[in-house]
Amino acid sequence: MPVTVVIGSQWGDEGKGKIVDLLAPEVDIVARYQGGANAGHTIVWDDQHFVLHLIPSGIFHEGVTCVIGNGVVIDPVALMEEIRQVEALGFQVEGRLLISHNAHLIMPYHKALDKARERWRDAEAIGTTGRGIGPAYVDKFARTGIRVVDLLDRDGLREKLCTALDEKNAILQSVYHDEAIDVEAMIEEYVDFDQRIDPFVTDTTAFLGQALANGKRILAEGAQGALLDVDFGTYPYVTSSHPTAGGCCTGLGVPPTSIDRIVGIVKAYTTRVGNGPFPTELQDDDGELLRAQGHEFGATTGRPRRCGWLDTVALRYTARLNGFTDLAVTKLDVLAGMYELKVCMAYRIGDKTTERFPNDIATLERAEPIYETLPGFDGDLSGIEAVEDLPGDARDYLKFISDVIGVPISMISTGPRREETLVV
Ligand code: IMP
Repeated sequence: MPVTVVIGSQWGDEGKGKIVDLLAPEVDIVARYQGGANAGHTIVWDDQHFVLHLIPSGIFHEGVTCVIGNGVVIDPVALMEEIRQVEALGFQVEGRLLISHNAHLIMPYHKALDKARERWRDAEAIGTTGRGIGPAYVDKFARTGIRVVDLLDRDGLREKLCTALDEKNAILQSVYHDEAIDVEAMIEEYVDFDQRIDPFVTDTTAFLGQALANGKRILAEGAQGALLDVDFGTYPYVTSSHPTAGGCCTGLGVPPTSIDRIVGIVKAYTTRVGNGPFPTELQDDDGELLRAQGHEFGATTGRPRRCGWLDTVALRYTARLNGFTDLAVTKLDVLAGMYELKVCMAYRIGDKTTERFPNDIATLERAEPIYETLPGFDGDLSGIEAVEDLPGDARDYLKFISDVIGVPISMISTGPRREETLVV
């Protein structure tokens, strides 16, 4: 079976970019299926450090074709800038990047509305990345979105944009007291984008279907994390797409029966950017230490990430939702030097104890973690080349995680570089 899906098992930022980059040489195609430029997938090789927001993390492997599927929302400005940056590093993009003609576009009014709504929500703000993701998906489902294919028909595009802006400007001005967006400038910008994007656009579903028929292997790269899924995450503090495994089928047009491997990426502790419940969050020196040692600052927005202990209640929940076949544990090195490691095993909610993840936030906000404490480990893990050479307490920590979640570990990341990875 030819499709492997890589999924963030927590609230995003688990290190998916590195794992996708590592698995890419084993496949023919790497495809993004949801989200947009809210993602920040970091890849480090030699002394180079690169953050990809839209282009799939297989782009640095010459033999790999990259696909941006229909489920992604594309910010043309961000995409063109990213193509330019990747090309500047000496990598060929044209001919290797295919963009779905059915993907929806993020328009300037989506970004303006995203920011205005967050301002309006004030204390209840979601803490979005401000990239226009939510408003673009709203238009997709309201059937008023602009798709890549719409760029081909200039007159039709002008009409659609004028209609959209009539409504959006009315909302921006009268509800949010923002400035109106100029339709002519926007049309000019998108017509220019049409000319530049043209060589990349195709029916990616047909391409992927043919690839499967020819026995090619596809790596589907999830963005964000399962706990940010619009249905299964901590609603409303979620993103507006499906980072879970099901999103791969609807976001690429590949059948569920073509998937044979679902890799859950688990950061060795937990982080979250933006607002919303986070039962194991640490607001003490340990939290500061994790943030400092793990460089826990958003790859897209630069915001400091909230940090906390590993939460196996949440992980068992996302393992159940996604059917992880194996786990890649990342950032193990960040825990080195901590005296002891806590792992959340259950929640106390009022006078009850539960091992079930409540995904309604009113309940989750009252959840107090019940921890099991494991010994910490010391030492620099970066030069270690075999699992057996890890400190005993680090191996025990990994075995503990795998046993509790009930899924084997296939990869362990001990640093940001490609070489700093142990394959089990
Ligand atoms: P949006 O996706 O920009 O609408 O933001 C919704 C929520 O998802 C916010 O809490 C963001 O911080 C979070 N989020 C979006 N993309 C990412 C990501 O790539 N990593 C981590 N959190 C993200």
